[in-house]
Amino acid sequence: MIDLTLHEKAALVAGGTFWETRVIESAGIPSVMMTDGPHGLRKQADGGDHLGLGESVPATCFPPAAGIASSFNPELLERVGRALGAECRAEGVSVLLGPGVNIKRSPLCGRNFEYFSEDPHVSGELGAAWVRGIQSQGVGASLKHFVANNQETNRMTVSAEVDERTLREIYLAAFETIVKREQPWTIMSSYNRVNGEYVGESHRLLTGILRDEWGFEGLVVSDWGAVDNRVATLAAGLDLEMPGPQAASEKAIIEAVRSGRLPEAVLDASVARIIALVERGGAPVTEFDVDAHHQLAREAAVESIVLLRNEGHVLPFAADARIGVIGEFARSPRFQGAGSSQVEPTRIDSALDALTARAAVEFAPGYALGRPTDAALAAEAVALASRMDVALLFVGLPEGDESEGFDRAHLNLPADQVELIAAVAAANPRTVVVLTNGGVVSLEPWHDSVAGILEGWLLGQAGGSAVADVVLGHANPSGKLAETIPLRVQDNPTYLTFPGDGDVVRYGEGVFVGYRYYESVEVAVRYPFGHGLSYTTFDYSDLVVDADEARVTVTNTGDRAGAEVVQIYVSAPQSPVRTPERELRAFRKLWLAPGQSISVTIPLDARAFSYWDVATAAFEVAGGDYVVQVGRSAHDMVLSAPVTRPASRTPGKLTLEASVTTWLAHPVSGPIFRRAAAGATGGDDLVEGGASVLEMVGSMPVRRLLSFPGVPVTEKQLRLVMALANNRLVERVAKLFSK
Ligand code: BGC
Repeated sequence: MIDLTLHEKAALVAGGTFWETRVIESAGIPSVMMTDGPHGLRKQADGGDHLGLGESVPATCFPPAAGIASSFNPELLERVGRALGAECRAEGVSVLLGPGVNIKRSPLCGRNFEYFSEDPHVSGELGAAWVRGIQSQGVGASLKHFVANNQETNRMTVSAEVDERTLREIYLAAFETIVKREQPWTIMSSYNRVNGEYVGESHRLLTGILRDEWGFEGLVVSDWGAVDNRVATLAAGLDLEMPGPQAASEKAIIEAVRSGRLPEAVLDASVARIIALVERGGAPVTEFDVDAHHQLAREAAVESIVLLRNEGHVLPFAADARIGVIGEFARSPRFQGAGSSQVEPTRIDSALDALTARAAVEFAPGYALGRPTDAALAAEAVALASRMDVALLFVGLPEGDESEGFDRAHLNLPADQVELIAAVAAANPRTVVVLTNGGVVSLEPWHDSVAGILEGWLLGQAGGSAVADVVLGHANPSGKLAETIPLRVQDNPTYLTFPGDGDVVRYGEGVFVGYRYYESVEVAVRYPFGHGLSYTTFDYSDLVVDADEARVTVTNTGDRAGAEVVQIYVSAPQSPVRTPERELRAFRKLWLAPGQSISVTIPLDARAFSYWDVATAAFEVAGGDYVVQVGRSAHDMVLSAPVTRPASRTPGKLTLEASVTTWLAHPVSGPIFRRAAAGATGGDDLVEGGASVLEMVGSMPVRRLLSFPGVPVTEKQLRLVMALANNRLVERVAKLFSK
């Protein structure tokens, strides 16, 4: 290892500038640059800010995570990742700060546009593909924000109070998949606290789980400005503080090492990881193909669009249809979210331009963004709608309504836009709404009044062309919702706890996030997770399920080529813990020509049948009969097949404090207990008044049996059985002899 003084080491573990690591000239250590991220490069030439304020170099703005997640297409995300990596190399950037794989706990989170899904499997699969793509170019990813950063309100101080099973199954799961599979070069620790402790100061999270359990080999970087106590964060495993330089942190580290409070070896480990990062990375390439990347952004945007509703096959529009294009968003697209991820696009396609070039179009803005209702604009739009064959109405959230840094208070579209939808729909029954929104918006009360709805999310710089491709039928929509659209925000399981009280937010819904809740409680939603229509139709048949895979045949029964996402859900049998009605455990996107059938085999790993067991601190399989289902969404199951899985768990150690039920379930003590009880009650079946005696006392700690007169059992007997069950018989017998 390079020989550095204590001062140099203390300097190196914080940035040298807003975006770069520290140069240590005496030791010949250069700096490397990290920039946002995630869906485009935000390289600031001068100075820096993490609020999306200052200018940055032009870069391709791909669809943000909320959009591209609807593609359910890891291969597409990998290609986008490769393009992002290439743009980084063209700009000499070593690490791209993304992707963000935080779970959409509440639809109100202001930063949901930057996250993939309410489902950890989707987030993990898509995030892994994105990281794989970026890193294939010799550029590092920074997986963020680790962990339980699910809201913007008080994000720098709030404590997410979350139980261990929920943390493992929902909030850590995507990080786990990606770390184990892709080894991201860096992970960004989040601002918030988890169960009272800053993530950056949590040795359990940053070292115990991340490194010791999952085998993470990369570097942990702080979110920008997240470090509260530098010595505590170093000790926990946070290698690099950003931004820098940080004179106070340097001083504190030096003092802590000198006084022996911080072992120098801990500092050395972080220094080594920073040097390893600096030494990584490919030689810069000079340029990237701006046109090819724009084309990829368009393809990604097409796959991000979700066709929610298509009554009477209003879409795609006939080639000669006269289209009334309405809404300022058609002319001035909002294609990305606000905050640190804001990219300076290389170009912008508006839907209005793209449609005008290919169809008979007239336009009326209908409303002015950020200004009060304008009756004249609305009247002009309604008049246009009534004289055209179809009305294509663009509505959505203005930029000020959602952003990094704050959460939304409701899911509503601006009131003037809701009024406009009603008026336009009344004027033309063939009205199609195109939505622009980073987070989910309410489709009430207007949903039923329009013939078609396209969920356009934020689609990146080529989104306008992509919308034209879809409405004109040049592309067939294939997106599926990666998050539920509820009927009312009040129906969401986090409604009463989001964003918490002061600096505490209790994740009281546990693992029942998003569709896991709606499906378990049978709460109706507007559109379920996984929903999305196509211009063609698909049939499913021949589901065959084995212990480790599901096989199913998908047929395109319509007359257009199209893509379908096969969604495999698993329902668990009665488990030691309460499990959701069903959980998405695998998916696969398939492209099918008209009439084509594909038989696809989708692996199901052990995790597809497991839950986090707090007793064994591991994922365990509850033995029993599972149901594997193929769904068109989390709500609409088309095929199902049972499969039996053995329990993974070796029986835990018996103790006198364990319940009678636990002792009965144990392969050693169970039969002994049953025989003894049968003898005591004088019968074989132990049934009294319809209920088993042993079941009636099932929750009683075994030790308490001793305090009931007439129960013919002694402590000595219990200890002997325990020794037998816990494989301690030899010791126990030896002890008997030594007395
Ligand atoms: C955001 C990060 C971002 C960083 C640097 C922070 O405020 O939470 O996602 O990467 O700033 O801009």
